[in-house]
Amino acid sequence: MLKKFIENMPKVELHMHVEGSMEAKTLWELAHHNNYKIEYNSIDELKAAYKFNNLTEFIDMYMLGTRVIKSEQDLYDVCMTYFKKCVEQNIQHTEVHCDIRTYVDYGYPPEFVINALHGAFIDAKNNYGITGGFMPCFIRHLGAEVAQADWDLMSPFKDKILAIGLSAVEVGYPPSLFKETFAKVRDAGIHVIAHAGEEAPADYIWSAIKDIKVERIDHGIRCLEDERLVEYLVDTQLPLTVCPQSNVALKIFKYMSQHTLPLMLEKGLNVSIHSDDPAHFNAYLTENMISIAENTSVTKQGIIQMAKNAINGSFASKQRKKELHSNLKDYLSHHQDSNSQVST
Ligand code: ADE
Ligand code: ZN
Repeated sequence: MLKKFIENMPKVELHMHVEGSMEAKTLWELAHHNNYKIEYNSIDELKAAYKFNNLTEFIDMYMLGTRVIKSEQDLYDVCMTYFKKCVEQNIQHTEVHCDIRTYVDYGYPPEFVINALHGAFIDAKNNYGITGGFMPCFIRHLGAEVAQADWDLMSPFKDKILAIGLSAVEVGYPPSLFKETFAKVRDAGIHVIAHAGEEAPADYIWSAIKDIKVERIDHGIRCLEDERLVEYLVDTQLPLTVCPQSNVALKIFKYMSQHTLPLMLEKGLNVSIHSDDPAHFNAYLTENMISIAENTSVTKQGIIQMAKNAINGSFASKQRKKELHSNLKDYLSHHQDSNSQVST
């Protein structure tokens, strides 16, 4: 029952890296199409390699996806495949990460990523009514100078960028390192977000708040280690985009039943569920929600509250947020018992 309810519920995705939506089959076919030699002998062998012990190991595999993409059209197609999945899962608004640095280092201009993502979002809106936007990240383990160079490349296209984030290997690269560049991003009127408190401790979340003034935190699960931080996050209701299956796949929690999302919700943190890299972690948004509902104490009311939190935490316009809330409300009104006791 709850499974069906979650499957059909209108959803908002706020944390998804587009190359992380490349199924082994897509990656394999693209490699062959582009004559890129990969070290796996079959799709099954490649799929079997979607297993990781930590974030760093995962990033290596994630990079393989970027290597088989050889044209703007390839990247556009990867986006459109993801948008079709959004239709299947009733994801009505999605904010998507894709780094430009990787492709710039391969010799492509920044327009390669910007046009592919921008074009795909226009077509997603026209074909499916899906809204959202593109959020490149600075690759933190490449350091502050590279981030500044990325901003210099991206700033002429700022109208096509919804937000800028900070991703990749976290430990050793606190947000404070990128303080100056993010000040410029904010001055340009672009939303600022960052992965923080995924593998690294709560200090990194403080740094994201104080040094680069984030409007939303990707992951943030390690906030629970610092009571003062939890208090601050509850007071400010800063959104945290939690990715449960990612956390299990990258061994932050051994089992889903150990995930601290129920506790985060209980403490009044502004949490919502997202997928991060759905193909690699074998769970899109629906599967992440179902897994939390089936393996933890989070109730149907909790799932609904987080669906609302995702709408509120998005960078959608006021008007679009109203529509998304109204779509959710309509859906809930057809599932009468589920609408009680949940605040907007
Ligand atoms: N890039 C793709 N997925 C990521 C994650 N979970 N953390 C940091 N960077 C990422
Ligand atoms: Zn992520």
